[in-house]
Amino acid sequence: MTDAVQTQSSPGEFKQRVFSGIQPSGGLTLGNYLGAIKRFVDMQENGIETLYCVVDMHAITVWQDPAALRRQTRELAAGYLAAGLDPARSILFNQSQVSQHAELGWIFNCVARMGWMNRMTQWKDKAGKNAEKASLGLFAYPSLMAADILVYHATHVPVGEDQKQHVELTRDIAAKFNHDYGVDFFPLSEPVIEGAATRVMSLRDGSKKMSKSDPSDASRINMTDDADTIAQKIRKAKTDPEALPGETEGLKDRPEARNLVNIYAALAEQSVDQVLAQVGGQQFSQFKPLLSDLAVAKLAPISGEMARLMQDPAEIDRILGQGAERARAIAAPILARTYEIVGMIR
Ligand code: TYM
Repeated sequence: MTDAVQTQSSPGEFKQRVFSGIQPSGGLTLGNYLGAIKRFVDMQENGIETLYCVVDMHAITVWQDPAALRRQTRELAAGYLAAGLDPARSILFNQSQVSQHAELGWIFNCVARMGWMNRMTQWKDKAGKNAEKASLGLFAYPSLMAADILVYHATHVPVGEDQKQHVELTRDIAAKFNHDYGVDFFPLSEPVIEGAATRVMSLRDGSKKMSKSDPSDASRINMTDDADTIAQKIRKAKTDPEALPGETEGLKDRPEARNLVNIYAALAEQSVDQVLAQVGGQQFSQFKPLLSDLAVAKLAPISGEMARLMQDPAEIDRILGQGAERARAIAAPILARTYEIVGMIR
């Protein structure tokens, strides 16, 4: 971002803290699992403080039926828990229960520039030619996302590739705030984009991201799909006529093949090279059954556990409530200090 001002702040000067979030705007996909949740769970093993959020305020930037939003919020929380997120070690909550996000979001609306928002590729993709009809919230969304991160002084933000630009904008907002008020208050948070599946692609089109909003259900694997559905979607996944190569270089210009190998590698917790050393030379007719067996073996226990957790919504609400209380305890003093810096009488 050219008109952003850099300051001296760096994550190194702040206590390490991880924050990330997912929108409850539909079912969870394999992209969300491999690009985000699985990595959130891995990060809680490192002894660093971790906060993971169901960003319900982001979800309403496009219309959400209230009953569906409630169900999806609980389902996403269940997804986090079923995948191994431990509410004793991580702070798990939904965004709207911690009002500090929205309050800091407003201040950041006054720091961020219209031009910055206009350059966000996700805004351009989502609003498209219909920008006049898009909600103001959808336009301002990256500044609320910056508040989500910075209200905890989070230093590390694990996300998929598609969120990188928003985390960079968060750094620009932090830098401009620090510069404008002559402080070194907000850290320049780092995006953490790692692993074989930082951008899981559609099963129908290797040039498009796997997304919960794609009209074709066959384009994605949902975390709630049963074993037969997963196997069928992988069987029908678009491929090319070549056999699999023995080395990563051979996946160049083969987006569909690369996507399936990346998914396999991420599920198997191996590098792409390790996978190709085993399956190089195979036809897709041999590789696809291996991939679907692996996907079912990894995902079925998670979807089973999600279904079990969903039978007790009160318990999910209790966990979210407790997490929100712990989140508020971190966010409140940071917001109070922000108001002071800005010049608000409290
Ligand atoms: P959302 O809800 O679209 O996606 C949640 C997370 O899943 C990742 N992801 C993917 N990763 C790999 N391949 C894919 N096909 C794929 N699809 C989704 C996303 O990169 C993301 O990490 N704005 C965010 C939510 C958010 C947030 C935050 C994230 C709000 N506040 C603060 C981090 C920090 C979003 O809409 O993600």
